[in-house]
Amino acid sequence: MSATFPPLARRLDGLQSSAIRDLLKLTSRADIISLAGGLPDAELMPRDRIAAAADAALSQRSRLQYTESPGWGPLREVLAARESGRLGRPVPVEEIFVTHGSQQALSLLSEVLLDPGALVVVEDPAYVGALQVFRAAGARITAVPLDSDGMRLDALRALLEAGERPAVVHTVSNFHNPGGVTLSPERRRELANLAEQYGFWIIEDDPYGELWFDRPSPAPVATYSPNVIRLSSASKILAPTLRAGWMIAPVQVCRAVELLKQGADLCGSALTQQITADLLADTDWLAAHIDSVRQVYGTRAKTLVNAVRTRFGDAVTTTEASGGMFVWADFTDGTDTQTLLPQALEAGVAYVPGNAFAVSTDYTHSIRLCFTTSDEATLVEAVARLAKSHGAGPA
Ligand SMILES: Cc1ncc(COP(=O)(O)O)c(C=O)c1O
Repeated sequence: MSATFPPLARRLDGLQSSAIRDLLKLTSRADIISLAGGLPDAELMPRDRIAAAADAALSQRSRLQYTESPGWGPLREVLAARESGRLGRPVPVEEIFVTHGSQQALSLLSEVLLDPGALVVVEDPAYVGALQVFRAAGARITAVPLDSDGMRLDALRALLEAGERPAVVHTVSNFHNPGGVTLSPERRRELANLAEQYGFWIIEDDPYGELWFDRPSPAPVATYSPNVIRLSSASKILAPTLRAGWMIAPVQVCRAVELLKQGADLCGSALTQQITADLLADTDWLAAHIDSVRQVYGTRAKTLVNAVRTRFGDAVTTTEASGGMFVWADFTDGTDTQTLLPQALEAGVAYVPGNAFAVSTDYTHSIRLCFTTSDEATLVEAVARLAKSHGAGPA
């Protein structure tokens, strides 16, 4: 006899588990090369340096204690110095707030900035972690498409001129997940101007900005307007297990987030925050470490893109893969990527179909490919398997 439990809150109605997480369960088979996940390569994470920092941290009993809700003071100071360099202005420590990964910043911000029914503009295709959070907050979500220069501001401007008044515009400004593209400097300035003209917040969600391959990413959107709340994270440059993300925001936003974080988890981990501070403050080591990650990912990205071009020719177009972790590819021959997926799994390769990220458009012919966790030979083999399942390559 199955038990009947009392109901759950109505805000859960319509919330779904991420299609990607469900797909990842399917693709963990050893015989499948997965380009579906969105994980950084654990082999490149600085385990020994983290272990040394953990040892140093644990030599002080205070690191076993609770810490302050906005984050361990010395980490906030290191972050303030780093972000001052990026933003080209002195960023005071009071504008830095450490979160449990940047995902927690998205979650807390959605409570601080959004009343139920408030309008949030996202990019299409969208980062699903942001969609989940905005949906859970009861927001009304509208999407603006991406092109090779990032969010299409003509489409955003059209929405605004039609009378829409978003509370928040969310953008993954560098090496978009899943779209692979970067918002151009001109659009960054224009987006900031629109935020001030129409009075909305921009959440600039930037976990990938330091993973550029050919040339550094443009100045953050946050350089152009105080209406920008900038998020970044140690997950992709150091290790996700640190769960160290940070927000740069006006003091009143930080104070509001602090109230909610106290209720959510009291504070983050003083231990992983000290480890993170130690690694981020070791600037020569950090620069060399990030550089080596860039080189490995850059080579993998180019190998993947070249393999797709060689195997598929005009049947597939891809983004340039100039940074980050993902390539977005469009089949130009009408292939339905949801229908192709079982054949691809059968051939031993996995990807995420475009419709998993779709908001207004269905992206039936698109896929997201992650190049970070396979070496070059494996990436070439993965594309050969994809071509075989698609019928474009040798059987
Ligand atoms: C665009 C974007 N924002 C935020 C996150 C969350 O990262 P974390 O919570 O590990 O900092 C991710 C993770 O993949 C992401 O792709």
